[in-house]
Amino acid sequence: MQGFSRSPGVDGPLSDAAREGRRKIWRWAGLIAVGGFLFGYDTGVVSGALLFFKQDFHLDRFQQGSVVSVLLLGAIAGALGVSRVSDRWGRRMTLGLEGVVFLVGTVVLVTAQGYAMMLVGRFVLGLAVGAASATVPVYLSEISPASIRGRVLTVNQLLLTAGILVAYGVNLAFSSSGNWRAMFAAGGIPALVLAIGSLRLPESPAWQLAHGQGDRARAMIASVAGESRADEVVERFESTRRSLQQEDDSQRGRSVLLSARVRPALAVGLTLAALQQFGGINTIIYYAPTIIQETGLSASNSIFYSVAIGAINLIMTIVAIRLVDRLGRRPLLLFSLAVMMVMLALLGLTFVAGLGSVLPVVFMVLYIAAFAAGLGPVFWVLIGEIFPANAHAAGSSASTAVNWTSNFVVSLFFLPVVGLIGQGETFWVFAVVCLLGLMFVLRYVPETRNRDFAEIDAELQARAGRRPVSRTSQ
Ligand code: BGC
Repeated sequence: MQGFSRSPGVDGPLSDAAREGRRKIWRWAGLIAVGGFLFGYDTGVVSGALLFFKQDFHLDRFQQGSVVSVLLLGAIAGALGVSRVSDRWGRRMTLGLEGVVFLVGTVVLVTAQGYAMMLVGRFVLGLAVGAASATVPVYLSEISPASIRGRVLTVNQLLLTAGILVAYGVNLAFSSSGNWRAMFAAGGIPALVLAIGSLRLPESPAWQLAHGQGDRARAMIASVAGESRADEVVERFESTRRSLQQEDDSQRGRSVLLSARVRPALAVGLTLAALQQFGGINTIIYYAPTIIQETGLSASNSIFYSVAIGAINLIMTIVAIRLVDRLGRRPLLLFSLAVMMVMLALLGLTFVAGLGSVLPVVFMVLYIAAFAAGLGPVFWVLIGEIFPANAHAAGSSASTAVNWTSNFVVSLFFLPVVGLIGQGETFWVFAVVCLLGLMFVLRYVPETRNRDFAEIDAELQARAGRRPVSRTSQ
C-alpha cells in the first residue's frame, strides 16, 4: 500500500480530475519537502556562522567541531525515534511537530549566550533534521501515484540541495557584518512555513486506511482521483494491504523490520544509506574549501567554490527529476556510482602525483554532478518505495538513522584519516566503496519505476534469492 499505486484515476488518460489531482499533489509535495529544505539549510549554514560565533564565544577546535557535529547526533536520535510518532499520530501531525522543533532549535541558537547553549540548540535542530528526513520520503510516497512517484520523491532532494545553496548565500550576505545570529534566524522562516503549512496538508490515505479512517481516506482520494474513481482506488489499496499482510497481523513498526519478508528491503535501505555517506559526499560538501586549499589555491576563493559546488549539486538534481521516472532508478544509480568511482580515482591521482590545482576542482565538480544525478536523490526515493505499509515508517527511520550515523563517522574521521594515509589515498578508499556499491546495486536493488508495491516486493524477494511469496499464500 504505497502511495496511490497505479490508481487509474490519476494515472490513466488525463481527465480534468486527474490533471487537477496532480496539481494538488505537486502543491502538497512542495510543502512537505520544506522539511528537506530545512535539512539542507541547517546542515549548510553552520560552516559560515562558525567563523564568527567561534570568536564571540572563544571556542577551541574541539568545541567548534562539537557544535558542528552534535547536529548529526541529534539527527540519529530524531530519525530513530520518529517512526513511532509517525505511525501513531499520522504523517501530517508529525511533520507539523517537526516544524515546531525546528523553530525551538532556531530560537535557542539565535539567543545563545555561550558554548553550552550552542550545543543544545544544534542538538535540538538535529532532532528535527533527522526526524524530518525520515518522515518526508514516507509522506511523499504515500500521496503519490506510481507514475510520478519518483519525481515527487526527488523534490525532497531538490529542496535539500536548494537549502544548502540558500544557506551559502545567506552566509555570504551576512559575512561582512559577521552577524551569525541572523544566519541561524533566517532558518526560522521555512520552519514557520512547515509548522503552519502542515495544517493545510491532507493526511496520508495509506495511514488513514491502516487506522480505520476509511471514509476520510476515500474523501482524500476522491479529491485527487475524482469521485468516480475513488472506490476503485480504495479497493486497490485495501487489496494490496490484505495480500501483503504479514503472517502475524499484529506485527507492526520495528519488530516487523526483522521478519524474513522485510529483510531484503531493509538490506537495500541500510546498505544504500551507508554507501551514500562512505562514498565520501559530505567530505566534499563540508570540506571542499579545505581540500581546494590543499592544492595551493587561496582561501579567499573558498566561498566562491562552495557556492559553485552547491549550484552544480542543485542543477544536476533537476536533471535527475527529469530522468527518474523515465529511465528508472537502477540506471541512474549505476551510472552515478560508476562516474563517482572514476572521478574519485582521478581525484586521488591528482593529489598523489601532484597534478596542480585545476584538475582536482574539475574532478570534484564532476563527482558532485554524478552524485546529484543518481545516488543523492535515488536513495531517498527508494526508502519511500521498498518497504511494506506496516514497516514503512520504521524502515525509513532505520535507513535514515544509518545514513546519519555513517555521516557522523565519516565527518569525524575524514581529516584524521587524511593525516594518516594521505589525501589522495583517502579518495581511493572512497572509490573502492563506490565499486562495492556498484556490485551491490547490480545484484540486489530492484527497479521501482512505475510499479506498485506488490511488483517491487516480488523483485526484492527474487533478487535476495527468496521465492516470491504469492499474493494469496500468506
Ligand atoms: C545526503 C546528504 C548530503 C546531500 C548533498 C543527500 O542525499 O543524504 O548527506 O549532504 O545529499 O546534496
